Amino acid sequence: MARISYDDQTAAAYKSVREVPRAGLAEWREAVRQHLEPAPGMTVLDIGAGTGAFAAAFGDWFGVSVVAVEPSAAMRALIPPRPGIKVLAGDACDIPLPADSADAAWLSLVIHHIPDLAAAAREIRRVLRPGAPVLIRQGYPGRSDAAHTFPWEFFPETARAASTFPSLEQVCQAFLTAGFRRDSVEQVPETLLSLTEFLGRADTFRRSDTIMRGLTDAEFLRGKERLRRAVQQAGRAHSEEPRANWLELLVLR
Ligand SMILES: C[S@@+](CC[C@H](N)C(=O)[O-])C[C@H]1O[C@@H](n2cnc3c(N)ncnc32)[C@H](O)[C@@H]1O
Repeated sequence: MARISYDDQTAAAYKSVREVPRAGLAEWREAVRQHLEPAPGMTVLDIGAGTGAFAAAFGDWFGVSVVAVEPSAAMRALIPPRPGIKVLAGDACDIPLPADSADAAWLSLVIHHIPDLAAAAREIRRVLRPGAPVLIRQGYPGRSDAAHTFPWEFFPETARAASTFPSLEQVCQAFLTAGFRRDSVEQVPETLLSLTEFLGRADTFRRSDTIMRGLTDAEFLRGKERLRRAVQQAGRAHSEEPRANWLELLVLR
């Protein structure tokens, strides 16, 4: 059971405001390439694939086949139907694939939705070939200063929900127990939105985002007001520049 319900409305909101544009993913493309070492015929498992933004990107960037495993029917329905992406109903603890059948696993912003990380790590160990990497794109409590991280800086109470996410140590422990070893962890920047775009899309963003859904209406409105003032103070040129955000790439093998 995910922390929020990914129903039709949430899926549509996610698709419209949460998919990072390709231009904002240049550093992710290089970071993933380095650890994935893509090769012809490779199959990458995208667990909790959502609306398929990364499944499509991995096909375009690296020419690999992607198996997108996603529990929400509404999210699955928005994955682009195209050759090279196979879409399956399933979740991190129940992957409908035989043992030793995938060459890598990708989990982007999924870890906090998984109810039993130890069971998920065992299931991922089962379906991956020996030595295959698990690449995890995620933020962890205590690893960055939320007060200065775009876009959470405007909504400081998001720290409440974010603090309940699994820590980096808990995630590593679950995977180590399942037989993986920690390979690397690094911060990777991306650009999603400008200040002006975030202000215009804040309500839709809130509908699609687990930690913003945890805000009260009053907290959300106060944050929007801070954002409105920041847009005014930044002036037109600065407020329309895409802002950088960082997440971490954890690699286990
Ligand atoms: C924040 S979205 C991320 C989607 C996509 N990975 C991305 O980065 O755009 C989280 C996704 O995880 C899925 N999810 C929820 N619980 C899950 C579980 N136990 N195992 C796998 N995926 C899960 C949700 O349905 C949702 O599509």
